[in-house]
Amino acid sequence: MESKATDITWYKSLVSRADRERMNGHKSVVLWFTGLSASGKSTLAHATEERLFKMDCRTYVMDGDNVRHGLCSDLGFTLEDRHENLRRVGETAKLLVEAGVLVLTAFISPLRSDRESVRSLFPHGQFIEIFCDAGLEVCEQRDPKDLYKRARRGEIANFTGISSPYEDPLNPELRVDSGKSPVEDNVDEIIAILRMRGILPA
Ligand code: ADX
Repeated sequence: MESKATDITWYKSLVSRADRERMNGHKSVVLWFTGLSASGKSTLAHATEERLFKMDCRTYVMDGDNVRHGLCSDLGFTLEDRHENLRRVGETAKLLVEAGVLVLTAFISPLRSDRESVRSLFPHGQFIEIFCDAGLEVCEQRDPKDLYKRARRGEIANFTGISSPYEDPLNPELRVDSGKSPVEDNVDEIIAILRMRGILPA
């Protein structure tokens, strides 16, 4: 987004991101979990965070439902509002990555164009898209918050997968079968990718 402010100058920190990464013993990136409601994004993001935390990594999870209580409490679920939601989340994640943190985000982020906009905020290789692919049927069966039921009854407008689109990622860094395979197996896959990419030490 174009900045409205004029006459602003970037102040360069005396402590660099590389300094922070050296101190932490790992690189900082964003792990961007995307998928339908109830596809397992939050479960997987939090389980991955727990594993990373136990490995002494600096981590933080940004979660859709939580962020919408504060930073984005003025936004609803039209595609415009989702765009702004994800823009703010992307910019916040970027600050945290700059601070040396391994950031895990759990947002439906239904449109490819919005996910690509967030990706473009990061240097190549520092935005890792993880598609939680559970299928609509499974998500609707799980329905932990009864939202699909209510959306089917027409009580919730613009509900992803029912009355609002979800575009499957075409080239995610990782697709996990979050419908069937155990969460810990999915966490293993993510940790392996982070090692392979040199984000975590081998
Ligand atoms: S996003 O599309 O902007 O990325 P986000 O992940 O922040 O969505 O929020 C999704 C969460 O909001 C869902 O897990 C669900 O609990 C809740 N929710 C409420 N209304 C809707 C809706 N119309 N569509 C999807 N999720 C909704």
